[in-house]
Order: sequence, then C-alpha cells, then structure tokens
Amino acid sequence: MNARLDTAATEPARTPPIESRLPQVGTTIFTVMSALAQQHGAVNLGQGFPDFDCDPRLVAAVEKAMRDGLNQYPPMAGVPLLRERIAEKMAALYGRRYDPASEITVTAGATQAILTAILALVHPGDEVIVLDPSYDSYDPNIVMAGATPVHVPLKPGSFEPDFDRIAAALNPRTRAIVINSPHNPSGTCWSKADMERLAGLLRPTDAFVISDEVYEHMVFEGEHWSVARFPELAARSVVVSSFGKTYHVTGWKVGYAAAPAALTAEFRKVHQFNVFTVNTPMQHGLAAFMADPSHHLGLPDFYRHKRDRFRAGLVKTRLKPLACQGTYFQCVDYSAVSDLPEADFCRWLTAEVGVAAIPLSAFYADAFEQRIARFCFGKKEETLDLALERLAAL
Ligand SMILES: Cc1ncc(COP(=O)(O)O)c(C=O)c1O
Repeated sequence: MNARLDTAATEPARTPPIESRLPQVGTTIFTVMSALAQQHGAVNLGQGFPDFDCDPRLVAAVEKAMRDGLNQYPPMAGVPLLRERIAEKMAALYGRRYDPASEITVTAGATQAILTAILALVHPGDEVIVLDPSYDSYDPNIVMAGATPVHVPLKPGSFEPDFDRIAAALNPRTRAIVINSPHNPSGTCWSKADMERLAGLLRPTDAFVISDEVYEHMVFEGEHWSVARFPELAARSVVVSSFGKTYHVTGWKVGYAAAPAALTAEFRKVHQFNVFTVNTPMQHGLAAFMADPSHHLGLPDFYRHKRDRFRAGLVKTRLKPLACQGTYFQCVDYSAVSDLPEADFCRWLTAEVGVAAIPLSAFYADAFEQRIARFCFGKKEETLDLALERLAAL
C-alpha cells in the first residue's frame, strides 16, 4: 500500500481554512423575505420580478432558434444581429450610435455587466462612489476589484442626488461612480439637469461612470435621461441594461453593456475570461423579437397602469406612498402604522398581514432607518388587488 493511501485512511479529509473575500456578505434580505413569504403564504411583493409571463412570440422565437440548430457558442461579444438591434434602439432613443462591432457586448444579465465593468476599470487602491440606497451587488463588486466603495447618500426624503456630497467625495483616487436611474429602490429618475450637473462635476476628473439603466423603459413622467444622451458623459461611461427587466424574462439573465471602443476593449478582456459568451438561442430570440420596437415603447404605459392601480389602493390604507417616477418599485412610509425598525416591520408585515416587502435599510451600507418599505408592483392585477386587500386591514 502506498503512503498517500495510508494517510487517507487514518486522517479525516480536511478542507483548508478559507479567508473570505467578502466577509460581510450573508444571505440577502431578498432570499430571507421570499422564504418567509412562502412559509406564511404571503403575497410576495418583495423581490423584483414579474409574476406574469413574457410574450409567447418571444418564447417561439427562442424555440425557433433552438430548432434551427443555433445551439453552439456565439461570438464572444454577442450575436451580431442582437448587437445591431441594441445599437439601433439606443440610436433611436438616445441619439448616440454605438458601434455594434466595437462598442456593444451582450452579457449574462446586468449583474455580470456591472461586475465586468468594475473589474475592467477599477484597480486595487481606487475608490468608487456608490449612491445609497443602492442595488446590492455594487459594493461587493467594488470590494472584489480590491477597491474601496465610498457610499454617498441620496437626499433623504426626495432621493435626489446630493451633488455637494458627491463633489466632496471626489478625489484623485476616485476611479468611477455608479449611478442608477430609474432608481431601485426609490423609483426616482435623474433629470436632464442632474445629468448635466454630473457631467460638470466629472469634467476635471478621470472618473468613469457605470450607469445602471436596467429600468430605462419604465419611466412614467417625462423621459429617460440616459448617459448616452450626453456626449461628455457617454465618452466616460459604460451603459448597462437588462433584457430581463424589459421583456419580463428575469430568469434568462441576458443584458448588455455599451461603452466607447477603448472601454469596451478592456471590458471584453474581462468578459472573455469570465463567461466568454452568453447563451445563443436566447440572443437570437431577443434579436428577432426586437425587430418590432412596440414592446419596449409600450412598456411605460404597461407599468404606469399597474403603478396607478397600486397607488390608488395604497392611498386607502395607512401606508403613505412616496413618489414613483420610474421602475416597478413603490416605496411607502409606514410610520403611521408602526415604529418598528424596517427589517422587523417587513418581517411582521409578511408573517402577520401576509404581504412581503423589502426594508429600505437593506440598500444602505450603514442600514439607515427611515420607516420606509419597498413593494414591487410588477405583478398581475389580481396579485396587487389581493395585497391591497390585506394592506387595507392595517
Ligand atoms: C438596479 C438593478 N441593477 C441590476 C439588476 C440586475 O439585472 P439582471 O437580472 O439583468 O442581472 C437589478 C435587478 O433587480 C436591478 O434592480
């Protein structure tokens, strides 16, 4: 018997200790609340995904791609026709023509696009500004790049960008700022003046912008001010979007990043050795479906109707709906109902009232408390009506 086998027989197998790269990260509040919602049979308005299906023609287009044998690796940057469709859409809506060959990359959802952009642009020792409340992947992504997240709050109450505080946070180590409009969780949208103010602040710096625009087609008042509409910002930005949000297919995890060629070249170096490519039939299906822009052009009305229905019900409850200019999230001030901290209130609401929500404090690095909870109204009318019926009892 050889020595290695002798050792294996006498000592228990041992996993070496791991030094966590992300020691602060635990189970997310979304997972916790969804599990609690299931346990209590609550209406789940917590996590942000639709409970209705996508257009059957989109499924048929994906099925056709599969049956046509489009099942092998696509080009690394994405199926050319899909990149062309993205370029056409962005040119039509935002007036900037991104070159599909050198400036657009199809990604495994916006999540991978954001991580890839950060890994490509940010170096150890850099700082990246994040505006809180913020989507939960930004901070750990920055830490994974060896950089320091610098959390700057949006103005409490209005959730508008606080440019004085952003200006104060900018310094020579600032490599990038992550912005997100329409904004999850608050539902606010940046105005043209906000974007111009940002352009002015960044002008003397070498900071990049990672612009998370996954809710670009869910703007209910006015227009979406993409960074792509501002040449000065677009020149230093990676624009990120998500087909999951736009086409009601969050589980497909397909998105894209659009950026000037020099940035895209670096982005693709990371992308190539991360996912390399994104699944082929979904890309063909989306490209075929996008030939008709009526879906994304009709999305604001589709979600505005749900927003209005949900808000009309909320005003009859003791919850106070905050302004909602975009996204499928509606925040409420619950201070007339309870003085519990947000996470406790949301647990109570799920278990006792039967409606799951997400505490806004979960989106702040310092768990800032405002007695605000976030609901997702991207749901069927009967789901919203059932939730409202239960909330009316509060
Ligand atoms: C602001 C924001 N960014 C990014 C994402 C992730 O998008 P995807 O599912 O395409 O990765 C989400 C999903 O909820 C989001 O709300």
